[in-house]
Amino acid sequence: MKTVDTVAGLHAFLEEAREATRPPDADRGSGGSMDRRRLALVPTMGYLHEGHLSLVDRARARADVVVLSVFVNPLQFGPGEDLERYPRDLARDAELALSRGVDLLFAPGTEEFYPRGAPDIRVTAGPLADRLCGHYRPGHFDGVLTVVAKLFNVVRPDVAVFGQKDFQQAVLIRRMAEDLDFGIEIDVAPIVREEDGLAMSSRNTYLSPSERKSATALYRGLSKARDVFLTGERDGARLCGIVADMVGREPDARVQYVELVDPHSLDRLDVAVPGSVLAVAAFVGTTRLIDNIVLV
Ligand code: PAJ
Repeated sequence: MKTVDTVAGLHAFLEEAREATRPPDADRGSGGSMDRRRLALVPTMGYLHEGHLSLVDRARARADVVVLSVFVNPLQFGPGEDLERYPRDLARDAELALSRGVDLLFAPGTEEFYPRGAPDIRVTAGPLADRLCGHYRPGHFDGVLTVVAKLFNVVRPDVAVFGQKDFQQAVLIRRMAEDLDFGIEIDVAPIVREEDGLAMSSRNTYLSPSERKSATALYRGLSKARDVFLTGERDGARLCGIVADMVGREPDARVQYVELVDPHSLDRLDVAVPGSVLAVAAFVGTTRLIDNIVLV
């Protein structure tokens, strides 16, 4: 595995990687041909955990060359959010990336990736960002889409892998790829959880031991709502109420929203149908956590 922290270094690696002859035992196409290698990108903000690494596994299965980016993107943090204290450990990330077969770790600094400072020209996320998390984090998804567009442009992958954990983000990125004709396949991987159900997140490191226990209420609530859905309950308000009650019972937790939405339009649903997504955001102490479940 190679690690580079400049766009020039990235391009040098990609030029070679793309042109290299594919190995004779490659299972796609005829062996040993000069076919272009398939390239996958896994964008992250680092402090890698098993959720991120599951995306790497999917990328490996879908491409010949896997690029993992680690960049804590200032554009997607609002004032008063956790940009300064966001956990960072590039040496550990590099070890984990290597162990899962990443070919290139691209970890630019802020000055390298935004040499003129915050860019004047940005991607606007539009109405899909008015809902769910976007409603409470104005400008967040413009920042996400702008950095993902830059990553798509510098890497030019065939496929990019994202997680269902950040469900609204995945919907917006897929929409951006379609609306702006990136010609990049967007793959979305299931949520990886701790043994007690808590969705893995770099931000879980902020939780105190008692908050860590309370944090399991998000998935306990979602699972209970899913079980009730499976027994025939279809009322959106009642399903959301189950999650809100479960989280609200924890003294150090505060629900920000619980919503039942359409998985594509993100429109709020009064009545659940198979495929509807139940999404929750809550503060546990000062840490904002999100989770969701697809009702099937
Ligand atoms: P980050 O929070 O580091 O997440 C990187 C990718 O890992 C995202 O696609 C996210 O959905 C996925 N992921 C995180 N936790 C997961 C889990 N428990 N199971 C499965 N996938 C999980 O999301 C971002 O970074 C940034 O917004 C980014 C897209 C990199 C743009 O800056």
